[in-house]
Amino acid sequence: MRIDIITIFPEMFQGPFSESIIKRAQQKGLAHIHLHQLRDYTTDKHRKTDDYAFSGGAGMVMMIEPIARCVDKLTAERKYDEIIYMSPDGDLLDQKVANQYSLKGNLMILCGHYKGIDERVRERLITKEISIGSYVLSGGELAAAVFVDSVVRLIPGVLGDETSALSDSFQNNLVSPPVYTRPRAFRGWKVPDILLSGNEKLIEEWKYEQSLKRTAERKPGLLRNEDD
Ligand code: ADE
Repeated sequence: MRIDIITIFPEMFQGPFSESIIKRAQQKGLAHIHLHQLRDYTTDKHRKTDDYAFSGGAGMVMMIEPIARCVDKLTAERKYDEIIYMSPDGDLLDQKVANQYSLKGNLMILCGHYKGIDERVRERLITKEISIGSYVLSGGELAAAVFVDSVVRLIPGVLGDETSALSDSFQNNLVSPPVYTRPRAFRGWKVPDILLSGNEKLIEEWKYEQSLKRTAERKPGLLRNEDD
């Protein structure tokens, strides 16, 4: 999968994309992430990407020109499955959405700032809008990093068997069962006996029961197939 991210803060992605699973996905050649500095697409000598809103009021608006120039350059080079704008009023990201995007070939992501972007970008250039939750971040970068992480780890081949995405919370609409490791007892707090029994069948049944119980207690909407 190739992911192109348009941003005025490319450095914000250095941390999340250079560690752990996302780093490995790139090293394995399963994810190719390209960052594009939007300021490189301005014609203005101050490399300005925002301007005052015609409607007045506080807050600057990101201009259409540099965005269109960058989007045009990228779309001339390849076809994109989606051109995504990260926005608090977009479609809510969940595991099902992440699964769907993990099967795509080329994605472009635009990160906004200030009071938003010129509406004509959303109307004419963007094909999907995604929100990571009902709260407002300072910009789309952190949201894009969350989205990319949730998608890239699901690309076939990225996770090894032992960390398989199939056992993740929300996969199969159930949250994960509790897990334990050594020591068997800490301050008298014991690991459930069944996990030490060596009986694989009983352990699998226990894990399934725990998943169901947790889902009913914490995310009952998942059992009804609703958004929680
Ligand atoms: N940009 C600002 N807040 C956001 C959010 N909650 N989700 C996606 N993009 C955003």
